[in-house]
Amino acid sequence: MTKFVGVLTSGGDSPGLNAAIRGIGKAALGRYGMEVIGFRDGFRGLMENRTQDLDTTALSGILTIGGTILGTSRDKPNAMPVGGTVMDMTDVIVDNYRRHHLDVLVCLGGGGTARNAYHLMQHGMNVMVLPKTIDNDVALTDVTFGFDTALGIATEAVDRLHSTAHSHHRIIVLEVMGHRAGWLALGAGLAGGADVILIPEIPYDAEKVAEAILRRSRGGKGFSMVCVAEGAMSREAATEAAAQEAEAKRRKEEAKNEKDKEDKKKSKDKKTVVAESAESETEQVGNALRLARELEALTGLESRVTILGYLQRGGTPSAADRLLATRLGTAAATLVNKGQYGVMVASRGEGTEPVPLGEVVGKRKVVPIDHPWIEAARSVNTCLGD
Ligand code: F6P
Repeated sequence: MTKFVGVLTSGGDSPGLNAAIRGIGKAALGRYGMEVIGFRDGFRGLMENRTQDLDTTALSGILTIGGTILGTSRDKPNAMPVGGTVMDMTDVIVDNYRRHHLDVLVCLGGGGTARNAYHLMQHGMNVMVLPKTIDNDVALTDVTFGFDTALGIATEAVDRLHSTAHSHHRIIVLEVMGHRAGWLALGAGLAGGADVILIPEIPYDAEKVAEAILRRSRGGKGFSMVCVAEGAMSREAATEAAAQEAEAKRRKEEAKNEKDKEDKKKSKDKKTVVAESAESETEQVGNALRLARELEALTGLESRVTILGYLQRGGTPSAADRLLATRLGTAAATLVNKGQYGVMVASRGEGTEPVPLGEVVGKRKVVPIDHPWIEAARSVNTCLGD
């Protein structure tokens, strides 16, 4: 019997998304004779029933294109802004899934997407997840697609800034993305030979960083490249953030208990408005600017800042990301053919492995402090701020 497959992309866009859509689509249509339909702009499009044909014409010529032909959003099924109110739209999504007679919904995204897909799975939908994000912070997969491309872009930025830092005898602080993981900063810093690499996993001491820069100066090198992850924090900020996070968690728990009590009271009303409790996100805006000012004051060296931002997410995917996305996409179609749902299709060595979604949800892959990249950075005398 013909299988019906829905596909959506959710969360921040990432190079390789179109390659993955093409991989799933071509294998599903051509190899397994399935029907494939896309939903626009993540879970919102599924809720609003905005679809896009994923036939052979739509799947052609997209392998090398950045972004996602389906569009994306960060909307969550159970907490979606609708008409100015945050609503639980799970039931509407499940209805639309059924209306299209889908056998499975394949969701391309990071940790948040896995959590949302798992939520839908608990409401009776068959789901599958493909791990994408430039941050590389999805647990239980070797790597995520998008990371290699972003790593290349960030490394090129370190290279280019190196020559101008050298010419002007300046400190240049380059801020790269990565959310709360240091993979991008560490990888790009190491590959580009940054003198200082600061990542969220190792809270830094600005005085230690300044000492390392001054040591270089005394050795005749009057410039320094500092590659800092957007989530990196000073020791003091990290302590404060940990306290805030514990408090936010406590409040969330309290709010949840309150909500559970209320839900029990009015269990018939399914479309409850969800009051979002405070996220434990730490505000990092201006981090790199603050750091540069501090280093300038401590070293007396002129400092400049470059925030690489969305450049890291845009443009043509690297060959490695196209290969990975194609491997994961085609493997997903094979798993759909076998009826193996409720999994994330992980990259494992040269192959792929279905990992139960429940094992992925709630975990984040950060850089272990004994990771070989950290070891290598220390061995080439890179200051890690500790
Ligand atoms: O997850 C990818 C990412 O680019 C992170 O590195 C960054 O913190 C975040 O998304 C930015 O999100 P937005 O696109 O919502 O500004």
